[in-house]
Amino acid sequence: MCGIIGYTGEENVKDVLLDSLDLLEYRGYDSAGIAVEGHEGPHVIKCAGRVSDLRVICESEKFFTEQAEGCGIGHTRWATHGGVSDANAHPHCVGEVTLVHNGIIENFRELAAHYDLGEQLKSETDSEVVAALLNHYYDGNPHDAIKKTVSKLKGTFALVVLFADRPGVIYSTRNVSPVVATVCEEGAMLASDLTALCRFTNRYFVVPEYHILELHRDRVMLFDLEGNEKKPEFLSADWELNSAGKNGYPFYMEKEIMEQPKAIERTIECRVAGGMPDFTREGVPDSLFTDCERVTIVACGTAMHSGLVAQALVKSILHMHIDVEMASEFMYSDPVLDEKTLVIAISQSGETIDTLEAVKYARLRGAKCLSILNVKGSSIARESDYVLFTNAGPEIAVASTKAYTTQLAVLYLIVAKMAHCRDVFTTEETQSFIRELQRTPEAVEKVLAERRDIHLLANNVLDAKDLFMIGRGLDYSILQEGSLKLKEVSYIHSEAYASGELKHGPIALITQNTPVIASVTQEKLMSKEMSNIREVRARGADIVLFIKKSLAGSVNEDYRTFLLPDMQDAFMVMPASAALQLLAYYVSSDKGFDVDKPRNLAKVVTVE
Ligand code: F6R
Repeated sequence: MCGIIGYTGEENVKDVLLDSLDLLEYRGYDSAGIAVEGHEGPHVIKCAGRVSDLRVICESEKFFTEQAEGCGIGHTRWATHGGVSDANAHPHCVGEVTLVHNGIIENFRELAAHYDLGEQLKSETDSEVVAALLNHYYDGNPHDAIKKTVSKLKGTFALVVLFADRPGVIYSTRNVSPVVATVCEEGAMLASDLTALCRFTNRYFVVPEYHILELHRDRVMLFDLEGNEKKPEFLSADWELNSAGKNGYPFYMEKEIMEQPKAIERTIECRVAGGMPDFTREGVPDSLFTDCERVTIVACGTAMHSGLVAQALVKSILHMHIDVEMASEFMYSDPVLDEKTLVIAISQSGETIDTLEAVKYARLRGAKCLSILNVKGSSIARESDYVLFTNAGPEIAVASTKAYTTQLAVLYLIVAKMAHCRDVFTTEETQSFIRELQRTPEAVEKVLAERRDIHLLANNVLDAKDLFMIGRGLDYSILQEGSLKLKEVSYIHSEAYASGELKHGPIALITQNTPVIASVTQEKLMSKEMSNIREVRARGADIVLFIKKSLAGSVNEDYRTFLLPDMQDAFMVMPASAALQLLAYYVSSDKGFDVDKPRNLAKVVTVE
């Protein structure tokens, strides 16, 4: 859950490292540091705090006025072992070795004791033990030291290393934690994810696990642990070179919310042929959908919430058995899995360790796994039988928005495909379903155009300590995501309830002026939902209503209301979600929070 970077080339190395750390900061932001090679070995600057704090320190360092081009490594941290302090920030230097690390070394205490490394350690981190162990084994041969060190490590790691007597060369190896690398006109570079590279190029390769990467200014070299040179398998990202910037928006979250119509359209249109869902380009056979007897969706957080929408659709359209499992609980719940189970894993990053482990576990038990991911070349992509990529482009804000709606777009395509393959939908019905799906970008666009009204509604909940979101059926699924979004960026305690459940306990929490957000988009559930809204209003709740426009006419009472553009009920999820994302965004930005980097969170969760 940290961001790592290495660069060797002719650009100003400090600037490349700091600019890259800015882009990687969403992976962790409690401390940051860089090491740049100088005449007397690596010069290390690190501090607790943000990359911006590090930048201020670097600007006043004489070293960097004398040292421009060259070679260096950097890190932005999400603390696991050891608190947030200057000493625990990376890079760590021990003897000849300067290192940054992403991952967790489970046996670091045993290693420190066994190799008697304690005296050399200045931090509480597992990472510094790895630096000390590398130094212990280093006798002038980097490959040998890396090989011996990794053979002792238990856990996950992406290591990036400078050896003092190997100027201009950066070494890296990894297990589970990702590293991507490239070489281009500006030099050679590695990073924990593509966002840092795509400023320079969209050609990159994923460093295979347990290999050694050497970055030289003009080339990259890849070796297996036996010393055999391997050819890197370059991939091409379809992200635009400047797509990781803010494009004038104050926060990435706003930019990414606004990008949704285009992102949803990109995700849908490349998979529609003759008005029908088509996965042939991705090699996903129809038999995957006809041969299964049950579907299990595994995912975490927002990605799991997109699975809940799919669950409701699959149940109502296909009448099939479908579970949605939190990936973190999946393996420990003795799930029913066999060759007749289709597992659908959903993940923006493709790196979430719980989802990755769930995929491995399910495949070992014979299930076929289809993943819906945003990041090509990610670990889950490599572990899956089939992958459908969302075409959302880089998502930098920690709170997921466009990844969620593009995941939904893929899930709707899958539902249509399954319904057609399993003779639930005729061709005409499938085409009509797809036509409505193709209207979703336009419906989301309409919500975005009315965002000032949502901003006004956000003012009503700014001071709330607790807030409730209520709805039935698909509205409840939408609100679970809406509630997560609000709580993570605004720090308001928010809970989503199925409206019918309120009377079984939660209604005890409703008192005078308790804010309640209600979503009403499902016609067949409307009268019951409105009764539930009246029940909480009668107990003093302050209601904000998000309602489908064509249903609003039959509401007799006066509520603060946002009208959602009309779509068929099954598709109202898209416009409603965009509205709730905006609500969360405005509450957070109006409260003056760092919207893109909510406290304690990190974008890519690679620890269990
Ligand atoms: C919330 C959020 C998280 C992620 C979750 C899974 O806004 O972003 O809940 O959805 O950590 O991440 P991925 O999708 O990368 O597996």
